[in-house]
Amino acid sequence: MDHLSKEFWSLRYQNKETGWDIGEISTPIKAYFDQIENKEIKVLIPGCGYGHEAEYLFKSGFSNVHIIDIAQEPLIRFKDRNKDYPRVNIHLGDLFTHNGSYNLIIEQTMFCAINPFLRQSYADKINSLLKPQGKMIGVLFNREFQYGPPYGGTKNEYLVYFKKKFSEVMIEECYNSIESRDNSEFFIKMIK
Ligand SMILES: C[S@@+](CC[C@H](N)C(=O)[O-])C[C@H]1O[C@@H](n2cnc3c(N)ncnc32)[C@H](O)[C@@H]1O
Repeated sequence: MDHLSKEFWSLRYQNKETGWDIGEISTPIKAYFDQIENKEIKVLIPGCGYGHEAEYLFKSGFSNVHIIDIAQEPLIRFKDRNKDYPRVNIHLGDLFTHNGSYNLIIEQTMFCAINPFLRQSYADKINSLLKPQGKMIGVLFNREFQYGPPYGGTKNEYLVYFKKKFSEVMIEECYNSIESRDNSEFFIKMIK
């Protein structure tokens, strides 16, 4: 089995090996959401897992939030927990073949979950899914790991991928991480 295939991720959920899941929206992303005024913007959350960010946005009145995951298990749980959430905004599939046009895309442990050789394709794909002036925000690890996933990285490496197509690329030490990720992540903001 390709160790990062759909089957790989499904099995991780079936076996409850979901150490990445923090059980709620992460604080840096929540702080960003809390200052957005227009709740009608079209948002995509790739590799959403159990979808805590989407649940938070939905309950806060955002009306056009889409989630996508390659594994069905977390999406089934998301639907169970969010019975009123629009089913058409829940996508089971591969981000790399997803089509759409979004104002905002959220990165929360999807980039570190894909094979590193796909990183440039990820940056290009995110860019292509954004409307003009659209943004991607989120967090990326600021450290390396011996084995992955998660795969870490450095600011200089990330800059190479994102500077190619984004007009503005901001990668800064995150000051409001959850305790277990303190000093180990960047907050990022990329503008198309
Ligand atoms: C490390 S988990 C993070 C889940 C969630 N973002 C969180 O923070 O709890 C990575 C997620 O990305 C999903 N994933 C991996 N490759 C994907 C792809 N190519 N397209 C869509 N989802 C993918 C996995 O199924 C998994 O749910």
